[in-house]
This record gives sequence, C-alpha cells and structure tokens, in this order.
Amino acid sequence: MLWGVAGMTDYLDLEAAFSTPWVHPGGASATTHLLAGLRIARGDRVLDLGCGTGATAVEAARSGARPIALDLRPAMLAAARRRSTELALIRAAADPALPFADGSFDAVWAESVVALLDPRRVVPEMVRVVRPGGRVGLNERIWRPGTPAGRAARVNALSRRCFGIPASAVDPRDRDGWVALLEGSGLRLEEVTAVDDVARAERPPDRRGWLERRRPYLASPALYLRSLRWRWLMRRHHDAWSKLESWIFIGERRP
Ligand SMILES: C[S@@+](CC[C@H](N)C(=O)[O-])C[C@H]1O[C@@H](n2cnc3c(N)ncnc32)[C@H](O)[C@@H]1O
Repeated sequence: MLWGVAGMTDYLDLEAAFSTPWVHPGGASATTHLLAGLRIARGDRVLDLGCGTGATAVEAARSGARPIALDLRPAMLAAARRRSTELALIRAAADPALPFADGSFDAVWAESVVALLDPRRVVPEMVRVVRPGGRVGLNERIWRPGTPAGRAARVNALSRRCFGIPASAVDPRDRDGWVALLEGSGLRLEEVTAVDDVARAERPPDRRGWLERRRPYLASPALYLRSLRWRWLMRRHHDAWSKLESWIFIGERRP
C-alpha cells in the first residue's frame, strides 16, 4: 500500500457525512499556521492535495488565492461542494502521478494525507507541480523516533481494523526520515514544527453553540453511535497511538 486507498474507510466516511472541517492533527490552529508559513499571496495558484471537506481550500480562497482542491473520495468532494459552491474540485485518480504540468502552482500542501499513502512517490510529485521558489507544506502524523518497523506495522494493522486506514507510513518513519525525504526531493526546508506546539499556542475558541456543534450527530444517531465507538477505540488503544506524533514541514522548491 498505497496510493489509492480505495477501500478506505468507515472513519473518513463519517467525517465526510459530518462535514468535519479539519480531519488532521491540530485542527484549525494547525491550518492557520500552515497557510501563513506557505506565504500565500493574492492571485496565487495553490493546490490542496487530499482536501477532505474543503475547509482549508476555502480559507486559502478567503486570502485571495485560487485553490484547486483534489480528493480521491466522492463523499469528501460532495462535502467540499456543500461548503462552497465556488471551489474548483477535482477527483484524484488512484495513481501517484498528479494530473498537472511541472511548476503549475505557487504552493501545494497536504494535511494528514501523504502519510496515509506512499510518501516516497507522493512527495516528489508535490515538488514537481510547484514552481521553483514555490512552497510545499505538510501536516502529517508520523512515528516517534525509535519506533521499530515491526511495531509500526502492528499499529497500522490495528488502525486498519479499527478505522479502515493505516496510522502512518512506515517509510519514511520518523521526523529525520521525513526531513531527508523532503530535502532529497528538491525542497529547502524552512520550518519543521511540532503540531502540539502550534495547537497549544494558537487554539481558537469554538464559538458555535452547544446545539450547533451537535447538529450533525443529532441528524444521524447511527453515525453518532459509530463515532462513539471510535472514540472508545482511541482510548482503549491509547498505548498504540502514543507511538505517533504530528509535525508540520514547510519548504521552498530549490531552483
Ligand atoms: C485524514 S483526511 C484529511 C482531509 C483534509 N486534508 C483535512 O485535513 O481535513 C485524508 C484525505 O485524503 C484523501 N485521499 C486519500 N487518498 C487520496 C489520493 N490518492 N488522492 C487524493 N486524496 C486522497 C481522503 O479521501 C481524505 O479526504
């Protein structure tokens, strides 16, 4: 595995059904941090790889960029369309080759996507489609240093059983491995930041009322019960998930 995560997943189906805005570590604060680090300017052409329900692409559009939002799953694209009728949405093929010419974008990012796929094939593609001097950003859940490959593989098997998706790629595994892959793919890294630091420092208040926050759950008790089960699985297997940590990487494509 895996570029096309075709069998994926109950868990992501739920997030699509609920139109969950941020299906990645650190939520809105991590997105704010990532977009700022990408230095997106008015009129920039930008690509959100694995856009999910489209919230980040909408944020980028608000700052004047022209986003293209790409996702494999029709349910996610439908949720993104519900969020904005103006987003340019494209259905990804189950193939690592991105359907864009070299240097098509000023910035490209992926939040909690590349670690679910094959980073050694996807990262070079992200770098290829950004112009020299353009930026590439990632927010990914990866393995803590010293996690043996066998342990990571066992946690992935558990994650697939519980949620239908792996926890993270096994190669590269830890932060140093990801840094080497990104630099080896033609990026000059500008930032490597722990998501925990960003989320603690910048967590915005959720201004929605109690009822508004729960409305999607109330609309579908069956999905709500599934979400409760997943929360329970998160707690029950806490030791397995504790082998993971989340990092934001931002770099500029070398000329
Ligand atoms: C964990 S979700 C993250 C969604 C979004 N980036 C966010 O942060 O809310 C992973 C997303 O990657 C998408 N995905 C999986 N494989 C993909 C592929 N080959 N090409 C594009 N998107 C893909 C999934 O459909 C899903 O929407």
